[in-house]
This record gives sequence, structure tokens and C-alpha cells, in this order.
Amino acid sequence: MSFECRSVRADVGAVGANRTVLDDVSLDVASGEFVSIMGRSGVGKTTLLRVLAGLQEPSAGSTVRFEGRPVDGPPDGVSLVFQDYTSALLPWRTVAANVELPLEGHLSKPERSERVAATLEMVGLADRANDRPPQLSGGMQQRVQLARALASRPAALLMDEPFGALDALTKSDLEDELLALVAETSTTVVFVTHDIDEAVYLSDRVVVLGGEPAGIAADVVVDCPRPRTQIRTRESAEFLAARSRVHEVIFGTR
Ligand SMILES: Nc1ncnc2c1ncn2[C@@H]1O[C@H](COP(=O)(O)OP(=O)(O)OP(=O)(O)O)[C@@H](O)[C@H]1O
Ligand SMILES: [Mg+2]
Repeated sequence: MSFECRSVRADVGAVGANRTVLDDVSLDVASGEFVSIMGRSGVGKTTLLRVLAGLQEPSAGSTVRFEGRPVDGPPDGVSLVFQDYTSALLPWRTVAANVELPLEGHLSKPERSERVAATLEMVGLADRANDRPPQLSGGMQQRVQLARALASRPAALLMDEPFGALDALTKSDLEDELLALVAETSTTVVFVTHDIDEAVYLSDRVVVLGGEPAGIAADVVVDCPRPRTQIRTRESAEFLAARSRVHEVIFGTR
């Protein structure tokens, strides 16, 4: 098992003025599984991701494990990708130097250069290594962020609305690139999105958070075979069934 959450409760806000956002969330994500998290704005999706990433401590009585070990800080082997690529990248560093950042102190200089080159190749940016992020399009900048997350060859990727700010065409290209990359590397993915079609297209399961405090309102299995393709998969009966089920739950939790 990659992630195991048992009876997770999480509070936000200052001590004495805090509010419970998540309550009694139990969720397993198997190794190599792709799980999307959905739910209305403010329901607690980012909070759940922060708890999985070891950036937020859940309340006493909660259990969160990554690969069998309790999460009590950012675990080795887990990388994060955020929605806002402009503030996630360092604009004064080259693309290569941004991707190299998480490897500093872990690999030797020649090993880092080799890893950075291989990772930029994976995301199709080998020829932009010496550019600076502001010289790239939004889709390219998001690819740099993905490369930086993949550079350490993580066992798991946590992604918070990573494609939310992109146009539809760039978004579907990146969805397919992501699926190919995680299939190749057997990476576990927990992916937050507001886009039902995107969640169903990418995922093995779509988990919907609902309520206040939020718990798991539904856990919908997507039965579409892999590899998936934008047109064929989205037309399949399995896709449409999962999509209408998720739709029903989300609109039912408003
Ligand atoms: N540092 C904080 N201090 C106080 N409240 C917070 C803090 N962080 C989050 N919250 C509150 O916790 C709740 C859940 O926030 P969270 O960011 O997890 O929602 P979300 O589901 O990711 O929403 P969105 O879809 O808009 O990104 C919200 O009501 C938010 O206002
Ligand atoms: Mg959020």
C-alpha cells in the first residue's frame, strides 16, 4: 500500500480559533494507483493533500502512513505539484537549474546533470534547458514543474489542480503525457481536480469529499482499460457510467 489514512481528522486556523475541515477520512491508495480527489471549493482537498505530504499534522487519533511508515513530516519518495506554476518555479534560475533543485545535496554534480537531462527529455523540454521559466508558455512551465517533481524519481506524486490554469488542448496533451510517464515509472498519483471528465479520464478511482467537516462522500471505481485515449476512452460506456456517478454525488453534496 502506498498511502493509508485511518480516521483522519484535520483542523485549520489558529489554536483556539480552529475549525475541523476533515473528519473520519479513511482512504487507501495502492502502489501505482491513480486516485483523483474531488469536491466543492473549500471542502478540504488541499488540506488532505497537505496531510498526505506531511506538511500538515492531522489531529490526535488519526493514522497516516506512506509505504507502511507513519507520516510525521515530508516523507522521502513523495513529490508535490501545485496549480500555480508561476510561483512554484524560481524565475531567475534556468529550467535545468529549477529541475535540479530537489537533487542538490542528494546526488553528485555529474549524476544531477544526467538526471536533469533525462527528466527534461521525458517531458519534452530537452531543448529549453537553458531558458528561464518566464520565457516559456504556461504549459511548458507546468511541464518544468512536473519534471522537477519527477527528477527525484518519487514513488508517489501529489498533484493539486496541476492543469487547472491551462487551455483545453494543452491540458489534454499534459494529461496523456502524465499517464504515459506514470505508467512507465509505476508512480502512485493522488490528483486534485475540479474537472469531472479529467478525473475520470485519468483515474482508477475518483474519491469525492463532502460535508462539513468533510468525509468521503463517494469512492467511484473507473473501469476503463489502459492505455486510455482521449477520444475512445471518453466515448466508452465505462467512462460515461463513472462520469454520471461522480456528477450525481458532487451535485448531491452541494
Ligand atoms: N491556513 C488556514 N487558516 C484558516 N483556514 C484555512 C487555512 N487553510 C485552509 N483553510 C480553510 O479550510 C477549508 C478547506 O480548505 P482547502 O484549501 O483544503 O479547500 P479545497 O477543497 O482545496 O478548496 P479549493 O477547491 O478552493 O482549492 C476552507 O474553508 C479554508 O478556508
Ligand atoms: Mg485547494
